[in-house]
Amino acid sequence: MKRSKPVVITGFMGSGKTSVARALAQILNCEMVDLDLAISDRERRTPKEIIELDGENAFREIETQVLREVLEAGLTRVIALGGGAWTMKRNRELITAHSGFAVWLDVPFRLCWQRISASGNERPLARNETQARKLYRARRAAYIQASLRIEARNKSFSEVVKEIVTVVCQ
Ligand code: S3P
Repeated sequence: MKRSKPVVITGFMGSGKTSVARALAQILNCEMVDLDLAISDRERRTPKEIIELDGENAFREIETQVLREVLEAGLTRVIALGGGAWTMKRNRELITAHSGFAVWLDVPFRLCWQRISASGNERPLARNETQARKLYRARRAAYIQASLRIEARNKSFSEVVKEIVTVVCQ
């Protein structure tokens, strides 16, 4: 059940990227990287701290660098992106250049927002519902460019993962 090309999980904040990526990697018996955690490890600061102290542009530069390093190392089969990574054209090009297969977890805004607000003050780009909804709407045009859209409404994480496995392992 191994797939040699990276499977990249994208979707809005709170769509469940990390949980799905972790479960997928377990089934595929492969390495998984959470890009935000890889950034935190490398920078010794969280994405939140970087965005708040240095601004979003500085964070996006680091995000692209770390994504490039992970892809070039070629050790990781499953990558959970941060919610904004796939919206950057240069990151999409990088993923395509590494034959990445992007999966969009399409989750209704209401559920994303529930999870975002329940997780506290972790997301500086979604400080309130209005700001988050605006970003959610604006980003759909990018997410739709993923190789696979999983309509995750009313599905458990394991159902979502099964659906991805069916496609990537065929
Ligand atoms: C961001 C999402 C966050 C993190 C950073 C920026 C975004 O990751 O990368 O705060 O622009 O949507 P999650 O999607 O895991 O919350």
